[in-house]
Amino acid sequence: MLNKKYRDEAVLLKKEKIPETPKIVAWEAPSNIALIKYWGKKGNQLPLAPSLSMTLSNSNTRTEIHFKKAEGENGTISFLFNGEPDHPFVKKVKKYIHRIEPYFPFLKDMDLYIISRNTFPHSAGLASSASAMSSLALCICSIETMINKEEFSKERFFQKASYIARLGSGSASRSVYGNFVEWGRHTFGADEFAYPSSVKIHNTINFIHDSILIIASEEKSVSSSKGHSLMKHHPYKEARIKQATENLDKIRKALREGDFESFAETTENEALSLHALMLSSKPGYILLKDQTILAIEKIRNQRKKNKTKITFTLDAGPNVHVLYPLSDKDKARDFIEKELKIHCENGKIIHDFIGAGPERVDKNNDS
Ligand code: PMV
Repeated sequence: MLNKKYRDEAVLLKKEKIPETPKIVAWEAPSNIALIKYWGKKGNQLPLAPSLSMTLSNSNTRTEIHFKKAEGENGTISFLFNGEPDHPFVKKVKKYIHRIEPYFPFLKDMDLYIISRNTFPHSAGLASSASAMSSLALCICSIETMINKEEFSKERFFQKASYIARLGSGSASRSVYGNFVEWGRHTFGADEFAYPSSVKIHNTINFIHDSILIIASEEKSVSSSKGHSLMKHHPYKEARIKQATENLDKIRKALREGDFESFAETTENEALSLHALMLSSKPGYILLKDQTILAIEKIRNQRKKNKTKITFTLDAGPNVHVLYPLSDKDKARDFIEKELKIHCENGKIIHDFIGAGPERVDKNNDS
């Protein structure tokens, strides 16, 4: 079941390392875009406030782990990320695997050969930690079920995968599910793992598209981890917790009732508030670019004047996620092409849409 690219990389890794008959597990997990933003943490990677995201379809990471019992006392980890053994992510993942050993004691004496690759271009300026960490967590949870021959319920399997993904990257906890996903204690729910949103989405808002305007693909000057940590003593910390909680209620209502105007207002308020928190951190910083602002103004104008169901959100960076439902796809795509493309670096846009969530892609597909 390995596709050619992965067979080639397995051969590369095998040259010195992969033994003849290891077992294989592979998952493909998508990225997600938060509409209600997780910003700031407490305790062990727990969110300050609840968040809600939309899982994407095309922006995926495929992770494959070949594993076997180590011959010596301690297991080893070999890892290729996007074909590179020395990618900065490799160090992070090795540290992460040691951190989750208490949850998976068998990992200590296993040899793991990990091959991970994004399906979106590495230089697109898109965060890949959500898809990368969730595909890795899903693989490790599948190894656990194979080794222990334990029958987990589907619900428990994904809950554990979400919990484990969270320890690698908060937003990754949401990528183990499809469609709309929530994370963080509210009137219900949990901080430790994400869960599929229970909101029944109105069919006029269903099937949301996300065209990502790549305004700048360079690495961000301030990482999200740094941003989260600046929330600890942020003067607006308490106000932010209240705002996220209220906005979650508002967006749930808008999704349920098919109220696009309220959906757009809440989504944009969240995106701009996220950047306002960065601006007002100590020290404050700016990740927005002039082209981000120009694109945002045009999108708002298009909704108000031309009545297109179109809105935007922002991640912790300058790229703009343009959101529109299927009903307005043609109008929105035409507008993006004619009016927004000029704001993108080399005209780069990635078209994506809401997706069904991760998929196990090895032949032992029994989870
Ligand atoms: O998961 P992290 O630690 O990379 O933080 C993600 C933060 C945002 O993308 C800005 C918001 C979110 O909820 O995904």
